[in-house]
Amino acid sequence: MPQPSPQTMGQQFGRRSWAEPWKIKMVEPIRLISRPEREQAIAQAGYNTFLLRSEDVYIDLLTDSGTSAMSDRQWAGIMLGDEAYAGSRNFYHLEEAVQSHYGYKYMVPTHQGRGAEHLISQALIKPGHYIPGNMYFTTTRLHQELAGGTFVDVIIDEAHDPGSPHPFKGNIDLDKLEALIKRVGADNIPYVSLAGTVNMAGGQPLSMANVRALRDLCDRHGIRIYLDATRMAENAFFIQEREEGYAEQPIADILKEFCSYTDGAWMSAKKDHLVNIGGWLAVNDEDLFNQARNMVVVYEGLHTYGGMAGRDMEALAIGISEAVQDDHIRARVGQVRYLGELLTDWGIPIVQPVGGHAIFLDAKSIYAHISQDRFPAQTLAAELYLDSGVRSMERGVVSAGRDPETGDHRYPALELVRLTIPRRVYTQAHMDVVAEAVKEVFDNRTQTRGLKLVYEPKYLRFFQARFEQIA
Ligand SMILES: Cc1ncc(COP(=O)(O)O)c(C=O)c1O
Repeated sequence: MPQPSPQTMGQQFGRRSWAEPWKIKMVEPIRLISRPEREQAIAQAGYNTFLLRSEDVYIDLLTDSGTSAMSDRQWAGIMLGDEAYAGSRNFYHLEEAVQSHYGYKYMVPTHQGRGAEHLISQALIKPGHYIPGNMYFTTTRLHQELAGGTFVDVIIDEAHDPGSPHPFKGNIDLDKLEALIKRVGADNIPYVSLAGTVNMAGGQPLSMANVRALRDLCDRHGIRIYLDATRMAENAFFIQEREEGYAEQPIADILKEFCSYTDGAWMSAKKDHLVNIGGWLAVNDEDLFNQARNMVVVYEGLHTYGGMAGRDMEALAIGISEAVQDDHIRARVGQVRYLGELLTDWGIPIVQPVGGHAIFLDAKSIYAHISQDRFPAQTLAAELYLDSGVRSMERGVVSAGRDPETGDHRYPALELVRLTIPRRVYTQAHMDVVAEAVKEVFDNRTQTRGLKLVYEPKYLRFFQARFEQIA
């Protein structure tokens, strides 16, 4: 029998192969524990992948948050930490990096993204306020609710359809926003909560044209725009790739132009910025800055460290300049896309188009026989771990939580499992192993019955909820 001639990955997909713009200098061994050990581990974790010990995980795609590999330059920066309580030189490097790459005037450091979300929500939201945004994010919405506000989703309808090929599924629907302004009044909208590459929609970008039109609308009504810039550098890559007029512009310039249409941003630096911990809030309004700078000393730490060590701020300042390099982002998104191309080619339903940081499996469609109150996505994440030791996470009814008014589950249209790719950590061979694991679970889908919720905490239940298998 003639053997098929081997092909590189690029050849298989009819394009030239690409490679990461780095080489590996240090490795961390990982190992796959046996199937009986995995069965025990996931049962002990209450079928919640957040409750697994990382030593029991083979390939860890739980999150891209704080899991990136730092560069040799960032590690060198760690050695330059100035651990003075006040006025650390690393703070000034960080401030300069944020100002020059994002263009905002003032910056307050925080320990991570939710620290910054807390500051901006407490500073701007009053009870009875409405905060429109392009789909909710778990911690962002909770901080808005804790401040007395109500989040209102004004993302375009296509974002709720996993099969829609819209190139900018993260866009704001300006008609929905205008209708909200008419209904509740601009005075009751402290700001629009805008997010780059919308996490809960599958890492979907929004366009420059959309943010420009949003700016016009908000200016007409005197409403501010604050940006969740957590994965905005990745969003800039999609603008470069898909939006007319941006193909020749560097990602760094696109990022800065985008931010210029907003009044400030909060950041979980654990994503785009290639560090294991860190965050910031940056704004143009001096009064808001003074308010946030005052609050940060109560909740995070002094305004020149905000919960980070000096060395963390140095690694972060260096990470910001690495994060906006075109070849880095092209390889990063390219790796995510590679995994997506394999699964798509095999007919496995995933959110399309493939987004920036993760592949989102459409659990509702894969487990069409499991009703949403039996947690299809939670079940799929557990099954994937059982099959292969690959850790993913639920982004469906468990993450959506309960309606604060009625106490019922919120049933989102999207019931997804997120396979999140850490930056600069795994190779193409790891992606192959993951793809085959997903296929195995997909092929055995009819044998799975779902889960029963046996414990849930009050806040952000997806982190700590426990489940049992339905017999
Ligand atoms: C879009 C988005 N916003 C905010 C956050 C919160 O950031 P952190 O986890 O650093 O508190 C995250 C992280 O999970 C995120 O993905």
